[in-house]
Amino acid sequence: MPDKIALITGASSGFGLLTSIELAKAGFRAVATMRDLGRRERLDQAAAAAGVTAQLDIRALDVTHFDALPAFVDSVVSEHGRLDVLVNNAGFAVAGFAEDIKLEELRRQFETNFFGAVAMTKAALPTMRRQRSGHIIMVSSIAGLHGSVTLSSYSASKHALEGWSESLRLEINALGIKVVLVEPGAFQTGIWTRGAVMGENATKETSPNIKRSLRMRDRIQALPKRDPIEVARLIACIAQDPNPKLRYLVGRDAKIQLALKRILPWKWHEKLVAHFLKID
Ligand SMILES: NC(=O)c1ccc[n+]([C@@H]2O[C@H](COP(=O)([O-])OP(=O)(O)OC[C@H]3O[C@@H](n4cnc5c(N)ncnc54)[C@H](OP(=O)(O)O)[C@@H]3O)[C@@H](O)[C@H]2O)c1
Repeated sequence: MPDKIALITGASSGFGLLTSIELAKAGFRAVATMRDLGRRERLDQAAAAAGVTAQLDIRALDVTHFDALPAFVDSVVSEHGRLDVLVNNAGFAVAGFAEDIKLEELRRQFETNFFGAVAMTKAALPTMRRQRSGHIIMVSSIAGLHGSVTLSSYSASKHALEGWSESLRLEINALGIKVVLVEPGAFQTGIWTRGAVMGENATKETSPNIKRSLRMRDRIQALPKRDPIEVARLIACIAQDPNPKLRYLVGRDAKIQLALKRILPWKWHEKLVAHFLKID
């Protein structure tokens, strides 16, 4: 049987890079995509170190170039013959108190984290429907289940992804296509540095939130973060599971946060967050 084909978005760093390698190690042909091929060196090096260079097909793709996505997926399918797994991983985080975030910044957040994943999925669905098989793995977040201070835009984009994916799963289960949400807590990747974009007004002296914005930024940066390989290995396992669950929460922090949100009355939850983060 020919290799199974996996397409991964946002493979220049973090989960996307590691997942591409883990899928290649598991025997998939991994079509690892990134918006700037000038950033492929780390992936090339990781592939060489793992001995999977021949299993990787590295291509340029920006998930917000919506009109180009169907032709891109079709070219992958015509060259490789099929598409078994789509990992919608590309993402970044807009940070800052909601009051300071411009509408255009919130829209940009949704363009990548939500509409990018939706458009990639819609481009992949005709092939998966024809095959009557396929895994669509959405890299969501604990922020998709839980609001977070200064991450309203990010959290809103991941909540949207959760709702859309949950509905899609109900719609296409019967076609043999599995939709899965992976919900990590805090892991050490580029999203905390290069991938974290402070809203333009959030760091201006004129912002009424400037002091607490900067304090929160330092607190978030100081949060303990886990090794992202855990998430990449989980995604590779899900890709090989013929009957995956809808949701996979990953990381002790994510599990504790969700349990507290479910167990505690909301007013207690609020007090705990305010106390822990020293919000004033
Ligand atoms: N790390 C965490 O703690 C954590 C927790 C929960 C969920 N997540 C989610 O995990 C996913 C991967 O993030 P990461 O943590 O691995 O961070 P990362 O290291 O910053 O990786 C993000 C990747 O997405 C790419 N990307 C951003 N915008 C894109 C676009 N328009 N088109 C194509 N690619 C784009 C980036 O490409 P460039 O190199 O070109 O910027 C990069 O390759 C994201 O969806 C994020 O929300 C992360």
